[in-house]
Order: sequence, then structure tokens, then C-alpha cells
Amino acid sequence: MGQALGWLSDFARRLAARAREYLRKLAATRHSIGARLLIGILLFSTFVTFVLAGIQLYTDYQRDVAAIRSRLDLIGKSYLDSLAESLWTLDETQLRLQLMGILQQADIRAAEVRDTGISIKPLVVQVGETPEPPVVTRDYPLTHTVQGQDRVIGTLRVEATLANAYRRLTDTAARVFATQATEIFLVALFIIFFFNYLVTRHLSAIAAQVGSYRIYDSPLELCLKRRRPRHDDEMQRVTTAFNSLSHNLHAAFRDLAEREARIRCLVDANIIGVFTWQLVGRTPEDQDVAFRGVNDAFLRIVGYDREDLVNGSVTQRTLTAPEWQDRTQRAMAEMRLTGAFQPYEEEYIRKDGSRVPVLIGAAQFGETGEQGVAFVLDLTERKRGEQALQQAQAELAHAARIATMGQLTASIAHEVKQPIAAAVTNAEAALRWLARRPPDLEEVRKALTRIVQDGNRASDVIGRIRDLVRKAPSPKERFEINGAIREVIEITRGEAVKNGVSVRMELGAGLQLIEGDRVQLQQVILNLMMNALEAMAGMAEGQRELQVTTTAEPEGVRVAVRDSGPGLTPVAEERLFEAFHTTKSSGLGIGLSICSSIIEAHGGRLWAEANEPQGAVFQFTLPVEQHSAS
Ligand SMILES: Nc1ncnc2c1ncn2[C@@H]1O[C@H](COP(=O)(O)OP(=O)(O)OP(=O)(O)O)[C@@H](O)[C@H]1O
Ligand SMILES: [Mg+2]
Repeated sequence: MGQALGWLSDFARRLAARAREYLRKLAATRHSIGARLLIGILLFSTFVTFVLAGIQLYTDYQRDVAAIRSRLDLIGKSYLDSLAESLWTLDETQLRLQLMGILQQADIRAAEVRDTGISIKPLVVQVGETPEPPVVTRDYPLTHTVQGQDRVIGTLRVEATLANAYRRLTDTAARVFATQATEIFLVALFIIFFFNYLVTRHLSAIAAQVGSYRIYDSPLELCLKRRRPRHDDEMQRVTTAFNSLSHNLHAAFRDLAEREARIRCLVDANIIGVFTWQLVGRTPEDQDVAFRGVNDAFLRIVGYDREDLVNGSVTQRTLTAPEWQDRTQRAMAEMRLTGAFQPYEEEYIRKDGSRVPVLIGAAQFGETGEQGVAFVLDLTERKRGEQALQQAQAELAHAARIATMGQLTASIAHEVKQPIAAAVTNAEAALRWLARRPPDLEEVRKALTRIVQDGNRASDVIGRIRDLVRKAPSPKERFEINGAIREVIEITRGEAVKNGVSVRMELGAGLQLIEGDRVQLQQVILNLMMNALEAMAGMAEGQRELQVTTTAEPEGVRVAVRDSGPGLTPVAEERLFEAFHTTKSSGLGIGLSICSSIIEAHGGRLWAEANEPQGAVFQFTLPVEQHSAS
């Protein structure tokens, strides 16, 4: 018993679930094309049926009423004379019989003959029952000829019922509606079936397929297959158009996938850091770049995990070193204008707090500029290489400086010896003034003052030489170029005298301060002057003149070293600044190459020309606002 109850409740539950499912499906088809078509056909057909049935019923009704009227006309023609006769003779029996005859006619329900004579009790013969309305009543006068004159002796009233006509109308209406409704319904069902067979089932199938189709996952093209009808119909045209669209879409997708694969290859190769980005922040001031996708190379550069970057907790602003934030904003502004920004060098702060120099460039996708791609190159190695090169160059420059100083040793020794000899002479003079009786203290004081000046002069020369041979690179400073040049001329004066060269200075007034390495720039001037002295040393005759000039230029300062030597040969002119190019037996050929790299590092330019009327002129410019001195 319990088992049977359990089975029953289980069955009821399943039945209810099935019913619910069915109702749900039915509710879902409520808005389907089939249902709407069915409702449309039914409504329209019902309307048409109503109109047509109404017309038919109206004509039927008119016909029935006309039939009754013609029957009443017939009664008027055939019964009136005999009824008038019977009424004249007051033959009630005859009258009744005749009225019964009238009553036999279809739809006639009552007939009455009434005497209109003047008797107190006029004769009234009535047969049948007055019917329920609606009725058609007709009164006929009954006339008799008395003394050659027609006289109305009574009236005949006949009442016909319309009930039969109404019943027939109702029957007709019921029949018409029943048959029409069935017909409409069946035709509508058939239309829906056919419509479903031809159209909607295909649409449903297409919807089901297309809805679940994933172009990324499917290796096959999405294609509709339909048995081709003899003549193309609308469905066939839709099928052809869909297949062509699908084909084009696949071709475009394949093309896109291929292109993406090529770009992916670059990203996945992890040679350079690549990331895709999304702009965040509303105003240009608080605008920032959030990372969307990053490759491993980028992760290695910045030292963060992928999650840190992609979940938005670390942005471009977090990574960029504080002093580079302005440069980043400028790059963003450039990208807003042109769609990309030119690569520039900046520094990132890694997760561990260390800094990494990078080269960064980016471009935005599309017009809106909300998203884009960027590449980042780790410049650590390059910077290290650059530093090593700079150091090597600095060491070479230092060695060259020492070598030049070596060349000048004799002249410099002479320069130092001179004040020392003068000091000795002055000291002897002072001793002599002291030995006088009485001693001439005023002269002693003058001699001692000169000794101090000589000592200072010797000390200055040594100080300058010490500066020039010092190894440590001097810090970048702002200095006056004319002062630096005067010091170099001091050092080379002995050498110039030795070679019989007259040195002239034409140093411009009011020149702006130069920013850079004073010793390095002095080395440039020293090298140029030494070259000029050496060039003129070999000359047999002619005036030996060396001229150093400084002039103000629009963007900075120009320094020129002119000589009246033999000048530059065409071959020498071409290879002048190459390292190890020399025409001297004791030369290394690195003087000018060091000069040009120093000037370039200061953002300037060094070049050589022929001097007028003879000799060579070496000139260089230096910008007054200089940042990149080494
Ligand atoms: N003022 C000048 N007049 C003519 N030739 C010059 C002059 N300055 C340089 N040269 C030519 O350019 C060459 C290269 O000069 P650079 O200073 O680089 O090397 P160097 O003087 O030969 O050797 P060092 O390395 O000792 O300076 C010289 O050998 C010389 O032929
Ligand atoms: Mg030289």
C-alpha cells in the first residue's frame, strides 16, 4: 500500500513537472511568428466572416420578409371578395372557414374579420392567436356594392409572424459560423504548418546553430545547407547571402588571426617588453595608463608579477620615477594629438625599489585613444656600455693630457723656474738692503713683496698643471670660458716662446657662462694650440702667429684657434678627426679625436678650415645651456 502511494506521488510529481515544462514552452511560443500569424489569420478571417455572414443574413431576412409580404398580397387578391360576400350575408360559419383557409398559409398566425356596420354588436370572427412580436400585420377593407356603390362593410386583419424567418436566420448564422470557424481554423493551421515547414523551422535551426557557434573554437566555416528548390525563393536567397557573409567573415577572421599571430610572435618572443594599455582618469592631469596585457620581458624589466600589473594596483605612474612624471605627461599629450609618441628614455622604479633605465614608445588603437600598445626596452646594458665607453674615453683623454704635459715639461719647468729665479734675485737684493748700515727696510719690504708675488706665480702655474693632470673627472660647473683659455695660454707660453710663435688673444667681452667640465674643455684648447705650435715649428720662414678668439653666437659661444702654419692637406682634412691619424713621427693621432668627442659631449661642434692668408683654423661652438656634459 505504502509502495503504491509512493509510486503515485512520484508519478504525480513527474506529471506536474512535465505539465510545467509544456506550459513554459507554450508560453515561450506565445511571441513566436507562428503564434502571431495564427492570431492574425484568425482575427482577420473572423472579421471577414462576420461581414460576409452579415450580408448573407441581411439578404436572407429581406427575402423572407418579401415572401411574407407577397403571401399577404396574394391573400388580398384571392380572399377579399368571398369574405365580403360572407360578411354581407353575416354567414359566420362561412367566414370562419375562409379564415381557417387563410391561416393555412405559411407564417400566418391570426386572421380576423370585423364588421364596420352600425349595429350595436358588430360581428367579429377571429381565428388563430395573435403571435409574439415581431409580426407583420396587414389590414384589408372588405367592400360590397350597394345600390351601385362600393361600400366598406368590414375589415380583414391578417397577422403573420417573423419568428420563422428569425429562426432560419439564426440557423443559417450558426451553420455559417460553425463551418467558417472550422474552415478558418484548419486553413490557419495549415498555413502555419506550411509556413513553419518553409520558413520558421529554418530560422529556429539557424538561430540555434549561430547562437552556439564560436568562431574562435570552430575549425569549420559556418554554412547553411538546404536542398536547392527548382527556382530560387526568398529562403534560398537568404541562405546564399548568409553563406557568403559567413565565408567573408571567416576570411576576415583568418586574416586577422594571422596578423595577430605575427604580432603575438613579437610579443611572445620576449625580446622587448610589450604591454597593452587602457587610459584611466577623467581629466588630462589625473590621466594614467593601466596595464591590460603584459609579456614576460616586461615583467622581467619591472620585477612585478603579472597580477600586480593587470589588476590595476600598479600603473604607469607607479612605475615612472618621480623626475620623469612630467616627461610622461608630455608624451601622453603628444599621443593625444598624433596617435603615438616618439620613443624616449626614462627610468622605471622596479618592485624592489631599484631603478632601471628604459626606452619607451607607444601608439593608441583607433580614434578614441582609450587603448593602445607600448614597447619598453631595457637600457641597463647599453647604459653600462656607455658608462664603460665614457670611462675609457676619459682615461684616454687623461693619458693624452699627461702625454701633452710631458711634452711641455721643459717649457713648464722654465715657467716655474722664472719666478723662482726672480724670487732668489729678490731675496739676495733684500739681504743686501738689510746689510746696509742702517738697513733700508722699505727696500727690504718691496723685495719681500715681489718674492711673495713670484712665489704665488710659481704656485699658480703648478696648481694649473696639477689640475690638468688630475685624474678624477671634475664636476660639471658653470664657468667663464675666457678665464680657462687664459690659463692654457699661460701653460703654453714657454713652448710658444721656444718655437718663436707670437700668441694673440682676442677674447670677446660679456660672454655667457659655459656649463661643463672645465678641465676637459681646457684640454681641447691645449690640444688645438699644441697642434698649431707643432704645425708652425716645422716652417723654415714666415711669421709664426697663433691667435685665439672667442665670440658670442646666437646659441652660445664660439672659440677659434688660428695659426699661420702650412695649413691642412686635402687628405689630412678628410681624416683629421679619425683616431690614430697623424702625420707626426712622435704623434699618436688621438688629439683631435678626443677634442671632437669632448665637444660633442658638451652639445657643441668642432670643425677645421683653411685660415686666411695661410694656415689652419680650428673652431668649436658650445651651447650656453648645456645638460649632457660627460
Ligand atoms: N693646425 C694644424 N695645421 C696643420 N695640420 C694639422 C693641424 N692640426 C692638426 N693637423 C693634422 O692633423 C693630424 C692629427 O692631429 P691630432 O692632434 O689628432 O694628432 P697628432 O697631433 O698627430 O698626435 P697627438 O695624438 O699627439 O695629438 C696631425 O698629425 C696633423 O697632420
Ligand atoms: Mg695633436
